[in-house]
Amino acid sequence: MNKKKIGVLTSGGDCPGLNAVLRAIVCAATELDWEVIGFRDGFEGMLPPGDCCTLTEANTSGIMQVGGTILGTTNRGHFTAKVDAGKKKKIPPTIIEQALETCRKLDLYAVVVIGGDGSMNTALQLYQAGLPVIGVPKTIDNDLEATAMTFGFDSAVTCATDALDRLHTTAASHKRVMILQVMGRHAGWIALWSGLAGGANIVLIPEIPFNLEKIIATIRQRDQAGYKSTMIVVAEGAKTANGHQWHHVNPQGEWRLGGVGEMLCQEIEKHTGKETRTCVLGHLQRGGDPTNLDRILGMRFGVKAVQLIAQKKFGMMVSYQNYDVQDVPIAQAVHHLKKVSPDGQMVETARALGILFGD
Ligand code: F6P
Repeated sequence: MNKKKIGVLTSGGDCPGLNAVLRAIVCAATELDWEVIGFRDGFEGMLPPGDCCTLTEANTSGIMQVGGTILGTTNRGHFTAKVDAGKKKKIPPTIIEQALETCRKLDLYAVVVIGGDGSMNTALQLYQAGLPVIGVPKTIDNDLEATAMTFGFDSAVTCATDALDRLHTTAASHKRVMILQVMGRHAGWIALWSGLAGGANIVLIPEIPFNLEKIIATIRQRDQAGYKSTMIVVAEGAKTANGHQWHHVNPQGEWRLGGVGEMLCQEIEKHTGKETRTCVLGHLQRGGDPTNLDRILGMRFGVKAVQLIAQKKFGMMVSYQNYDVQDVPIAQAVHHLKKVSPDGQMVETARALGILFGD
């Protein structure tokens, strides 16, 4: 009898921990005497004739602790199922059919899709078209519904916290206001967690619109109280009360968030007279090796994905809940973005510590 074959792909923006999932899938599948086929560059690898390779314990050895993805990925291309926050797009039926045909030709029993909300939307459409799919949630933004945490998030927070630690010393030496702009799209998880861990004085997140005057008043009060430097963490998607978000539209017509840190820098300098600098952390947050937590979460997700295939629980996504890895319907994970609750315990804790949210 032929060996059972499963496919796997990594899709969307990369993040630390993807290789840990791949390695875990290969090890767990090999234990069951299954073969693993990896598609290159996300769903694009499914287009005929299929750009793929066999993943073995030997050729995935040593990748668990390495950032990025050995399979490559893309957040563009034929399978883009998300236009912007919350807006979904239908994949053309011809593209879906081509992907199914490739999987049939390869005789795949199931496919594991490792990706964020856009990729889970694509995975769901493939599942609804008849492909047995299992989802594995990833994103540094931690904005996927139906899982308490995604791998990649802890590594991004660690990177941003390290940046804040470094900025603290130079801010104090020069008595400056230092602004760190972090990623996260329309969710403020990275800003909030790194702001707490890195001792920021002001944290600006999309979920709590900010008022520039309040920020300026706080900096002045801090100065008068003898605190000559102020640390601000701002999420790239932070907005004002009238909903304005700093962004540009690229030549492809896509919205790219960015610019809020620079705007704050100019306004704060103008209104307080204090020297102010901005640091845009950018893709450093997505690069480098995964933290221990992301390695372990990634490995647990990979093993669970193989177990779900063995149980024929297709259309499900692995999910982290109450310290356990469980499973939820993919459909449940793509309704909304998971955002920071302005009334939640994390924000309450930050406020109790004297952190200003600019509201
Ligand atoms: O979703 C992950 C993320 O890093 C966001 O935080 C950020 O807005 C976006 O991707 C950047 O995308 P790109 O790598 O295409 O510039």
